[in-house]
Amino acid sequence: MEQYIIKGGISLNGEVEIGGAKNAALAILAAANMTNETVYIDNLPDVRDINALLEAMEGIGARIDRVDRHAVTVNGSSVENFIVETESMKKIRASYYLLGALLGKHKKAQVPLPGGCNIGSRPIDQHLKGFKAMGAKTRIEHGFIIAEAEELHGAHIFLDMVSVGATINIMMAAAMAEGNTIIENAAKEPHVVDVANFLNSMGARIKGAGTDVIRIMGVKVLHKTEYSIIPDQIEAGTFMFAAAVTGGDIVLRNVIPKHLEATSAKIMELGCQVHEYDDAVRVIAPQKLQGTHVKTMPYPGFPTDMQPQIAVSLAIAEGTSIVTESIFENRFRYVDELARMGASVKVEGNVAVISGVERFTGARVSAPDLRAGAALVIAGLAAEGITIVDDIYYIERGYENLDLKFRELGAKIEKVASEKEIQKFRLKVG
Ligand code: EPZ
Repeated sequence: MEQYIIKGGISLNGEVEIGGAKNAALAILAAANMTNETVYIDNLPDVRDINALLEAMEGIGARIDRVDRHAVTVNGSSVENFIVETESMKKIRASYYLLGALLGKHKKAQVPLPGGCNIGSRPIDQHLKGFKAMGAKTRIEHGFIIAEAEELHGAHIFLDMVSVGATINIMMAAAMAEGNTIIENAAKEPHVVDVANFLNSMGARIKGAGTDVIRIMGVKVLHKTEYSIIPDQIEAGTFMFAAAVTGGDIVLRNVIPKHLEATSAKIMELGCQVHEYDDAVRVIAPQKLQGTHVKTMPYPGFPTDMQPQIAVSLAIAEGTSIVTESIFENRFRYVDELARMGASVKVEGNVAVISGVERFTGARVSAPDLRAGAALVIAGLAAEGITIVDDIYYIERGYENLDLKFRELGAKIEKVASEKEIQKFRLKVG
């Protein structure tokens, strides 16, 4: 099992290149199966979740060619098997995007019930509600969701809660349904817009993505396209908080500053300076961070995927801060780990009360999920002494070369796989 080992206390300085958005890429890859022509996609992050989905797509007959590390071509014309059943698929949440894509094109799909990070119960009732409204029959059997329709027709769908996954999944199926679909109370996240843009570039007719009403006029066929995935705002935000906790000064390249506004606003409340450029952002941190309060909300609110990272920053900020998690009920599982590093955090239901401490001290901690794992790494970068983060498998689901990117900013961090390598690192950093 691999770990990250970190010698903390070094300010991060320099430039970092942000990769493509994992959560946009997952949906776009699934949607690429909806045409018989060859689709070219680049700015893909090379992370475990993406590679698991590509493997599953090959498993159902799609032809995937790796053009380079961040680009693929997908040809879905040979997809014949609508049962997605690789082991890796059970582990990733986004397996459900193949449901919308295959249902849209082939009117049937069978996908394992989604896994993914254990951050709450994560039902998919809203996805199924949308499919049913379009005329599909859905059932769950032997751990699979099965959806099929004689014919998919347009429908007027009002989502009970704002769901990124349900919005995208319904949009994909509706793109090839007969007639018009309206999704009300739709999610507005940048990756919803990116998936709509991608589908439109294949000939779909989707309007309103980025607002809470999306209108889709179904088309009979989709065609080839070349598409570049948007930058990952969560990876970017993670680096912004890493700069904040280490008193650093970093420039993030290949970002869309508009997508980072909620994060930038909070980073400034912490006392950092944020400078925005066309496709870059610079964060300059003060000596000591200020506490603040934050509540996670659907976009354009503060993202739940940045909640652990801001909590880590608040844990070494001046004063008492309150963090309210309003999207997932189980997203404070990192708090016990952070306590091992000296943080003082009390969790009551979906609220964490954080009393800022002077500093973290390095400890051995485990990543409980993807974003919390990244947050523990940035805590380690700020901590005095050595931190070891176990279970980095989770982190690698969504971050490409996290250790390398931090090293390029001056951090002392390495990926290790044995006690011997840990000892070697300790000797090296002194
Ligand atoms: C997506 O998950 C992301 N995953 C998550 O990122 C992200 O945290 C989340 O959106 C919120 O932004 C992917 O894109 C693969 P939701 P998703 O449907 O689509 C409830 C990461 O770290 N809900 O917007 O699963 C749900 O329980 C991951 O990269 C229902 O009740 O999230 C939650 O409380 C973690 N029924 C809320 O809605 C449903 O049918 C929002 O979930 C669907 C959702």
